[in-house]
Amino acid sequence: MKTLAIANQKGGVGKTTIVVNLAQFASYSYGKKVAVIDLDTQGNASWTLADNTVSLKLGDVFFSDEEQLFSVNENISLISSDYKLANIEKLNVEEICEKLKKIKSQLEQQGVELFIIDTPPSMGNALVSTLLVADYVLCPIELEAFSLQGVKKMRTVINNVKQRNSSITELGLLPSRVDNRNANHRKQLAEMKQLYAKLVCPFSISLRSSVADAISSRTWLGKNKKRSAKSAIVEFSSLTDWVLHQTELA
Ligand SMILES: Nc1ncnc2c1ncn2[C@@H]1O[C@H](COP(=O)(O)OP(=O)(O)OP(=O)(O)O)[C@@H](O)[C@H]1O
Ligand SMILES: [Mg+2]
Repeated sequence: MKTLAIANQKGGVGKTTIVVNLAQFASYSYGKKVAVIDLDTQGNASWTLADNTVSLKLGDVFFSDEEQLFSVNENISLISSDYKLANIEKLNVEEICEKLKKIKSQLEQQGVELFIIDTPPSMGNALVSTLLVADYVLCPIELEAFSLQGVKKMRTVINNVKQRNSSITELGLLPSRVDNRNANHRKQLAEMKQLYAKLVCPFSISLRSSVADAISSRTWLGKNKKRSAKSAIVEFSSLTDWVLHQTELA
């Protein structure tokens, strides 16, 4: 099983949208057995993937000493956010890592191939712990003012984590919500590529209404037959294909 963290301490950059689409395309197009854990109390991934929820309560995982057993689904298994997660920052990094490792071990025993962790938009213990237990990290980025500063902060966190989790592989910085007609976005992308030539992913996720519509209507983008959705489907299929190859799952 490969564990992939989707992380950026900046809010609203498209983390959850990428988590949900990766899970759906990997499962429905590529037949992978996928699990998603929503470590964000906003619960956005939990809301969109609600039909795939497993019985595990994260509050019990993090705040009870008893081992919490659960069964995974055939395609996507969602470990849903829980209001008790609001207290997760009271736990230290070691405690959070230990609980996440227990979940990982149950997922692995039940044949899950790709485990995706959706993280909150804050530089706290939940994010650091996620990076400590992950095999890979992908950072969605926005091409707006202050994005560069945000990327620099994220890079510092990842570099610190690498001293304790040397096996984590950076899949890179994924430009997200990109408007190709926006001159500022093009300028920011060029700047990002100049500074982080090796880290910027070879493609972007564009800002498209079909993507937001799929998330808000809890339907898989891949099922949308409208012509206007075609380009978005191609982008997320390509992203999924690339992630599965990078993580040696395809
Ligand atoms: N490619 C896209 N095209 C159109 N809308 C998008 C796209 N990606 C994300 N959005 C929209 O932008 C908003 C923020 O996206 P999302 O929730 O995925 O970001 P996030 O990084 O997870 O936010 P947070 O940090 O608050 O968890 C949502 O309303 C989502 O529907
Ligand atoms: Mg989110």
